[in-house]
Amino acid sequence: MTRLVLLRGDITEQRVDAIVNAANRALAGGGGVDGAIHRAGGPSIMAACDRIRAEQGGCPTGSAVVTTAGRLPAKAVIHTVGPIWRGGGSGEAEVLASCYRQSLHLARAGGFRSVAFPSISTGAYGYPLDQAAAIAVATINAVIACEGDAFDEVRMVLFRQSDLEVYQTAALRR
Ligand code: APR
Repeated sequence: MTRLVLLRGDITEQRVDAIVNAANRALAGGGGVDGAIHRAGGPSIMAACDRIRAEQGGCPTGSAVVTTAGRLPAKAVIHTVGPIWRGGGSGEAEVLASCYRQSLHLARAGGFRSVAFPSISTGAYGYPLDQAAAIAVATINAVIACEGDAFDEVRMVLFRQSDLEVYQTAALRR
């Protein structure tokens, strides 16, 4: 039985098979989680992003790609591109759900049995945290209900205690 674990922490320190990055479509790096992952993992992650950009022009919103994790304790980084919040009427919820689904799909395909996610889109991209938390929890739980054999653990790693509490509330509502 796969577990969804919610915890406070730093995504770069997670000892899991794959961590997920909240990237942008150009895979060009940035601040927030993206900056922390590239800093801690070293230049081989950006080199892999450069190759993906050259081959397929980056990563569409709601989709995901896999690279090395460089010096990180994880084996791989799954880069997914969340929606920019535009008020909720532009399909943001479906795109955000797609980020979690596509990332887990790639994890499964890569044989990554433990996966850690940050809170996608709720920093620079401005997605309201309570709505994003509800989508994250519901989408992950739906995938592991169907594909539980593929994963030992799926983790949401929240940087701030107040964010963790919002996710805990979302998990209890289900
Ligand atoms: N570990 C876990 N969570 C973190 C970490 C970390 N080391 N650093 C930041 N966070 C949290 C933030 O507190 C926020 O709740 O990650 C959440 C997502 O914030 P962002 O990293 O800003 O991601 P997002 O909103 O999806 O914006 C993506 O920002 O950095 C750029 O290149 C990135 O353009 C892209 C955009």
